[in-house]
This record gives sequence, C-alpha cells and structure tokens, in this order.
Amino acid sequence: MPEETWKSRVGFVAAAMGSAIGLGNIWMFPMRAGLYGGAAFLVPYLILLFLIGVVALTVEFTLGRTAGGPIEAYGKTLPGGKYLGIFVNAMMLMIFAFYSVVVGWALKYFVTALTGKLLSVDPGPFFGSISFSTEAVVWQFIAIAITIGVVIMGVQKGIERACKIMMPGLFVMLIILAIRSVTLPNSYAGLEFYLLPDWSKILSGKTWMIALSQMFFSLSCLGMSNVVYGSYIKKDQDIPLSAIVTAFGDTAVAVTAGFAIFPAVFAFGLEPTAGPGLVFVTLPVVFQKMPGGIIFAVIFFLLILFAAFSSTVAMLETNVQAATTHLNMSRKTATILFGLLAFVIGAPGAINPTYFDWIINISTVYLGPLGALIAALALIKLGIDKAYEELRKGALIEFPAIWKPWAKYVYPIVVIIVYVSQFILG
Ligand code: PHE
Repeated sequence: MPEETWKSRVGFVAAAMGSAIGLGNIWMFPMRAGLYGGAAFLVPYLILLFLIGVVALTVEFTLGRTAGGPIEAYGKTLPGGKYLGIFVNAMMLMIFAFYSVVVGWALKYFVTALTGKLLSVDPGPFFGSISFSTEAVVWQFIAIAITIGVVIMGVQKGIERACKIMMPGLFVMLIILAIRSVTLPNSYAGLEFYLLPDWSKILSGKTWMIALSQMFFSLSCLGMSNVVYGSYIKKDQDIPLSAIVTAFGDTAVAVTAGFAIFPAVFAFGLEPTAGPGLVFVTLPVVFQKMPGGIIFAVIFFLLILFAAFSSTVAMLETNVQAATTHLNMSRKTATILFGLLAFVIGAPGAINPTYFDWIINISTVYLGPLGALIAALALIKLGIDKAYEELRKGALIEFPAIWKPWAKYVYPIVVIIVYVSQFILG
C-alpha cells in the first residue's frame, strides 16, 4: 500500500479542523456554556484549551507521525498495545455508528428545508415521527454512503479536498446565521442567557471538568482519528501551529454557534434545550417564525452537515487506515466494509432510543477518554525527547522545552482526573 500523506499544510489543518468541528460544537458547547457560567465558562475553557487542549493535539499528531496509526503506535510502545489499538478502533466504529444516525436526521431536515416543507410541519411531532423509525435507518444509510464516497477517494483527493471546501463554507454560513440571530428584535435575552457571566461557577470543580471533557470530545482527542491524521503528516509539515489553529478554530466555531442559536431562540420566546431537541425541534420553530426563515433553515442544516461529514470521514478513515495496514485490504474494500459495519451497529440505534443512548454513553463517556490516555502513555513510552524532536520537525513555531514535562506528567494526570471525575460527578 502506498503511504498516505496530506498534500499541503493547509489541507491538513482543514482536515484536522473538520474532524474537530462537529455536532459537539453546535449542540453541546453553547448549551454547556449557557448553563455553566455563560461568558465566565469561557475563562476555564480557554485556559484549559491553552494548557491542555493544544498539548493533547500535539501529543496525538506527534505520536501518529512518529509511530503510525493506533495499532502500530500502541503496538510498538505498550504491552498488549496491538489490542489496545484494536480496542480504540472498535470505539471509533461505535462513535461513527451513533453519529451517523444523527447525520441521517440532519439530512432529512436539510431535504425537508430545501423543499420548503419544513415551514409547515409541527416540529415536535415531526421529529418524533422520523427519529427512531425505519425511515431514520434509510437516512442513516445515506449518511454513511456519503461518508464512504469521500473516504474511498483517499486522503488527499477525498478527505483533504472535501474539508478544504467544507470548512470555509461552514465559517461563512455560521457568520451569516450569527448576524441574523443577534439582529432579531428581542434577541437580547438570548445573549444574556448565553453570556451573562456567573463568576461563582468558575470556582466549582464541576465547571472545569465539564469544560475538559467537552474539550476532549470536541478536539477529537480520543487517541483514535487524530493519531491516524498525525500519521499522514509529512516530516516537513508543521505540527505545533496546526494544533494551535485547530484548537482555537474549533473553539471559535463553538462560541459562534451560541450566537447563531440562543438570541434567535429567545427572540421567539422559546426555551433552550440541549442536543437533538435544540436542533431538531426548537430551531425549526424559530425558522418558522422568522421572516425568510426557510433560507436560514437551509443554511443551518447545510452547516450541520458540513460540520458532521468532516467529522464522520475522520471516523471512518480511522478504521480504513487500520484495515488497509493490517488486514491487507484495498482502500475500497475497507471503506465499504467498515462503512457497512457502522451501519449494522448503528441501525438498531436509529430505531431504538434506549440502544441509541447506550451506544453514545459507552463510546463517548466510559470508553472514549481511555483512548486519550492510551495515546498519552504511548507517547511517554516512545520517549519524550524523541517526541519533542519530532514535534520540532517542519515546525513553523517552536514550543518551549516545558512541553516535555507537560506532555509527560501534567497531561496524562489531567486525562485520568477527567476520566475518573466523570463517574463521580455523573
Ligand atoms: N470532534 C467531533 C465533534 O465535536 C467528534 C469527533 C470525535 C470526530 C472523534 C472525530 C473523532 O463533534
């Protein structure tokens, strides 16, 4: 198999940002910020992003470039590492499986918005009728088929090219929506909900923990896809600046998503909720009430699709990298096979909400963060001096040597604390 690489630095950053920016930014971040201190939430988030998030990205990218995808990287460094690599691949497949169900809903909404029908449905019952139904399975299948279509074309011609189109498009659409939202009459209450700083929340450990686990998922730092994307970075391509741009770009999108959502929700006297309810029930009501709402509905669901597909390609690519490297499969066979596997695992979740919640919890809460820990340990075993050398190759900016003790001690300890605290805080 020819070795895969990114064609350009910019292409790599587009792909890394594409992987990072996803549903996590649009339906989780704004809500959490609103609930955990508003503008005050940004303070812990940005501090953690700077101290931990950027390091997390550099750890996973550097590990990947030095040692290869998860199975190779963990296999070379950790006892039983090969199996740990297989384990994180299985987790990635599960994440892709439930994610594709949600992308399926978004596809259905996008098409319904395009035909104009979204204006005449009753959003609550409409969502109830299509989520968890056989129709949802069909849309999930289409979501997976589109992901397969991109991944099958390869790293440069598929993923990199698609992300280079989708990322700028996403930024433009998001800004249009944010401007529309904050200029609506009575949008002020939404701004107040979202931003009014509650400084007391900064002192609560829970706020910091929520910020951290949100950050890991949002940056896709789960020891899975970022290690694979790292393995495609050429020696003369930059890691440090790319990590910084990815981390802050991801956060900028998350913060702006709040501006696009809350002012509009409050302007029409609606209640903010999190997750599916927000995107698939509350916002359609907003679009129905807003002048010219159908145009904004089309833009919004296209935005969700861009964010989501640039993430699903990273998920599928993770398994494809493993299969082409270790199972001697062609890219085509591996892409179709693992795409179909995700479909089979996810389809029951498209029908049954209990299974859907279970698969989300298992993959994102209980097992996902272990991947980040495995990656951190693998990097340590690789040798922190060697890793630092690698980090400096092709770098456009230099990280001070404090990166070494930081990546070796501070980072893994923080990952462990986040993981354990999830069980304590619930
Ligand atoms: N970071 C993505 C989001 O915020 C999710 C993701 C996780 C993507 C793991 C790729 C790998 O939605």
